[in-house]
Amino acid sequence: MRSLPLLVAALWAGTVSAVPAKGASSCVTPSKPSVLPSSFKWTSTGPLIGPKDDGRNLAGIKDPTIVQVNGTYHVFASTAKAEGYNLVYLNFTSLAAAPSAPFYYLDQSPIGTGYRAAPQVFYFAPHKLWYLVYQNGNAAYSTNPDISNPAGWTAPQVFYPAGMPSIISSNIGNGYWVDMWVICDAQTCHLFSSDDNGHLYRSQTKVADFPAGMSEPVIVMEDTANIYALWEASLVYSVKGGKGEQKYLLVIEAIGSDSERYFRAWTSDKIDGTWKALADTEANPFARANNVVFEEGVAAWTKSISHGEVVRTSVDQRLEIDPCGIRFLYQGMDPKASGGEYNALPWRLGLITQTNSAC
Ligand SMILES: *[C@@H]1O[C@H](CO)[C@@H](O)[C@H](O)[C@H]1NC(C)=O
Ligand SMILES: *[C@@H]1O[C@H](CO)[C@@H](O)[C@H](O)[C@H]1NC(C)=O
Repeated sequence: MRSLPLLVAALWAGTVSAVPAKGASSCVTPSKPSVLPSSFKWTSTGPLIGPKDDGRNLAGIKDPTIVQVNGTYHVFASTAKAEGYNLVYLNFTSLAAAPSAPFYYLDQSPIGTGYRAAPQVFYFAPHKLWYLVYQNGNAAYSTNPDISNPAGWTAPQVFYPAGMPSIISSNIGNGYWVDMWVICDAQTCHLFSSDDNGHLYRSQTKVADFPAGMSEPVIVMEDTANIYALWEASLVYSVKGGKGEQKYLLVIEAIGSDSERYFRAWTSDKIDGTWKALADTEANPFARANNVVFEEGVAAWTKSISHGEVVRTSVDQRLEIDPCGIRFLYQGMDPKASGGEYNALPWRLGLITQTNSAC
């Protein structure tokens, strides 16, 4: 899967410039198509969200998921320290207010204590409920009618009541089953997950049956020669105005040849379709130290652009994102602090904004 990306990207770039997308309304320049570019450039803030001096003694805040609705950003993230993981919620109305936003630790809610990590939040319109999807050893979820009421999340339930599916246990090797991600189209809800062993999995169930009925997963992509190239933190979005092979965007976190984290990207016409390279190399990544510059006056505080999420303003289960000026909340870390116990690393959250939108 790593052999043809430049050729595919070149063919793809030729295709889009020849066929402008119709009906794209949100772009500043209407004559250009509302599609993803074949390379990306970003500007980053400094660290915006980190552990507080509140007696919890957290080492890091990680794995954020973020929506912006009615003027408020809602962020859910993992709390990490050597002893393990749980979840936190915070909200703010401007990025400037993010560092001082109060934390609501979700172990105070019915989500409870113990291992919970890597949340994804979305509004499942058919149920009029918010879903928080996360890992707890299984693929878990909680629901809440009001995203502003963090005490209102239900106790964890799981997508795979029989435990880890056999295709995962037989492929996981020494990896971990992580980073569950749900996206639905009109008929089907899909559940992606990774195994830190070079495999991306996908299950599905009918929208009408969700969250029950997840099928045995299939392997969507694999790289067994370099498991680090297809590591974890997969994200799948529908692209507003995206046509043909540009309808869905897949982003996966990799560990690069420099040992730093970065993101690779593919596109497809269907969630269960074939993923074609968009920006999937170290030289032409989705987001990596080599295509991220820091805002004026902000020190280059991280070399890793790691686990995070596009800021979504369309909040329902279709996970539609606007390709015109993507904003992405990610985890980064002082490179000097990168040794030692993984769970105790000092991850902080920062935001990158795309500066080379094709729109
Ligand atoms: C946003 O505002 C609309 C209109 O007032 C309301 O119906 C909706 O519940 C609000 N959403 C959230 C998440 O607060
Ligand atoms: C922000 O979070 C607090 C909990 O820290 C919650 O009580 C409040 O309702 C939230 N506000 C909004 C607008 O979501």
